[in-house]
Amino acid sequence: MPDPTKNARIAGIGAYVPPKVMTNEDFESFLDTSDEWIMQMTGIKERHFVEGDVATSDLAAEAGKQALEDAGVEPEDVDMIIVATATPDMLFPSTACLTQAKIGATNAFAFDLAAGCTGFLYGLVVATQFVRAGGASNALVIGAEVLSTAADMTDRATCVLFGDGAGAALIQPCEPGRGVLRHYLGSDGRLARLLEMPAGGSRRRPSEETLKERLHYIHMQGRKVYVNAVRAMGDSIVKVIEEAGFEGGDLDILFPHQANIRIIQSVAERAGLPMEKVFVNIHKYGNTSAASIPIAIKEAVDTGALEDGMLIGMVAFGAGFTWGAALMRW
Ligand code: ACO
Repeated sequence: MPDPTKNARIAGIGAYVPPKVMTNEDFESFLDTSDEWIMQMTGIKERHFVEGDVATSDLAAEAGKQALEDAGVEPEDVDMIIVATATPDMLFPSTACLTQAKIGATNAFAFDLAAGCTGFLYGLVVATQFVRAGGASNALVIGAEVLSTAADMTDRATCVLFGDGAGAALIQPCEPGRGVLRHYLGSDGRLARLLEMPAGGSRRRPSEETLKERLHYIHMQGRKVYVNAVRAMGDSIVKVIEEAGFEGGDLDILFPHQANIRIIQSVAERAGLPMEKVFVNIHKYGNTSAASIPIAIKEAVDTGALEDGMLIGMVAFGAGFTWGAALMRW
């Protein structure tokens, strides 16, 4: 049972993106698309892609090490590791275990979490419950993705949206009134097929046919995803703000999942928040799925935008469908 005298907060934050930058102009060289269309429809200017055999656990480990350093925690003192990802190194072992070995967190238990772009928020809430219940004192939550391997580079409607990267947060106990104040998670598997990678699992095993039909890539009904994302993200953030007894205006910064600038603007409008209070870095990274919120928080810390005591919101939506929001006193 969660201990009412104890809360959980982010004590350390880290982020890593691979060095290679893929611009909209780079896509123009092999795809029927334009910088103008991508900017106007998504707000994305560039994203980072891995090179060679760099995989999700490599990015996750870099971000994770930073979060530990930031919190001043040794790898051996980490109790649990959650890696939220839709693009694991392989189906098993888990990317969390591969990351654990790279970090040297030998005393932790580690597992992956599949909640698409909502993965970091799901992981944060799970870790918060463990920490509040006394099951962990140093919980490392990482959102990490190599979406460049999942995106079909011949499908202009999806491949321009995504980027690779990782973000990590070290969760520790804190006094009530600080840390995660309120959270809400939701999902609806009836809408699963609107955003999926159809093959590669037990349903459609890899075959010549699945390769030919390009079923090992992201398949998405963009407009339906868009509409559901705006509704679910807008409702979720309003719900946690109200349930915690605040008003939209009390929020210092909102960190929305960076999927599309138009989705972000609509969510802000639905929540009654001016865009000045909404953190946006989608132009630099594209949609990094589970990594996008911790990458944004790290950037806000580094630039001095996020200061001690601020009231922040996080909100996301992704494959599943899954969605959720959290309110935190930094
Ligand atoms: N360059 C140029 N034209 C393009 C491109 C491109 N990269 N992609 C699509 N088009 C064309 C289409 O072919 C279509 O042309 P047509 O009218 O001749 O058929 C036209 O643009 C409009 O396409 P739509 O798909 O209907 O455009 P829409 O307004 O839905 O915008 C977009 C597409 C930007 C993908 C939007 O649907 C979206 O952002 N959806 C959300 C998707 C998302 O964020 N998914 C990430 C995972 S979930 C999450 O993170 C929340």
